Amino acid sequence: MKIDGLDIHYLEEVTSTNDVAKELAKAGAPSKKLVVSDYQSAGKGRRGRTWLAPMGQDIFMSLILRPEIAQGKASMLTLVMGLSVAEAIRSELGIEAMIKWPNDIVVDGQKVCGILTEMSAVSEDGYYVVIGTGINCNSHDFDDEELSYATSLMMVSSKEVNREELIAAVMKSFDKNLDTFLKKGNLSELGEAYNHILVNKDSEVQICENEKTWTAIALGINDDGGLLVEDSEGNVHTIFTGEVSVRGLNGYV
Ligand code: BTN
Repeated sequence: MKIDGLDIHYLEEVTSTNDVAKELAKAGAPSKKLVVSDYQSAGKGRRGRTWLAPMGQDIFMSLILRPEIAQGKASMLTLVMGLSVAEAIRSELGIEAMIKWPNDIVVDGQKVCGILTEMSAVSEDGYYVVIGTGINCNSHDFDDEELSYATSLMMVSSKEVNREELIAAVMKSFDKNLDTFLKKGNLSELGEAYNHILVNKDSEVQICENEKTWTAIALGINDDGGLLVEDSEGNVHTIFTGEVSVRGLNGYV
C-alpha cells in the first residue's frame, strides 16, 4: 500500500498493528511511521477486549509518534485522533460522524471506529506513543450480540469505502490537528471542533465508576480532554478516562 506523503509500513496480516508498531518503535522507527494491515489475528480493543474483523474490509492502522510534550499529556493524542477520524469521515464520505467521549466514533448512534493508544516508558531518548485506530469500513457482519452497538461506514451509506483515500484523509486531518495541539500542549484550540460533534453534548449520560452508576448532563470537554458533567444539584464534575465509562441513558450512546 502506498499513499503519497505517508511513511507506511504495510503488512497483509499481523497479530495486531499496535504490537507491530511497538516493535518497530523499540527498534528505532521514526515518528509518524504508520503501520497498516488488511487483517489482525489478535486485534486489541480497550479494557482488554478483542477487536477482530474479516480480511481486507476494514482499516487497521497504528501510528508511531515521538511527541515532544510531557508524557502525562500524551493521552490527549487519542482525542486528537478521534476528532481527525470524525472530520475525515465527514469530509471524505459526507457521513455525519460524531464522537462518543473520549474517542469512539459513532454514526446514527452506532460505533464505527475505536482507538487504542499505548505508550512506552520514558527513557533518555524520550518515549513513544502508538495510536491504534480501527475503522469499520466495508465489513457487514455485526450479528454477534456483543457487536449489536457497532456498524460500518458501508452499512450506513450503502457505498463501498475506498480505504486508502480514507486513511489519507484521516492522516491529513491528524497532521493539522496535531500541530494545533502541540502548539499549546492541550486541547484548548481543538475543544470547540470536538464539542461541536460530541454526540452526548447537553444530554443525560450514565457515568459508571467501579460499582457506582450516576447520571449527569454532559457539557463537553475541557482543555485537558476531561469530560465536564453537571449533576442533578448543579455541581460540575470532571470525568477522566480510565476506569470510568460514559453511556447514554438507553444504551451505548
Ligand atoms: C476500542 O476498544 O474501541 C479500541 C479498538 C482499537 C482497534 C485498533 S485496530 C488497529 C489497532 N490494532 C489493535 O490491535 N487495536 C487497534
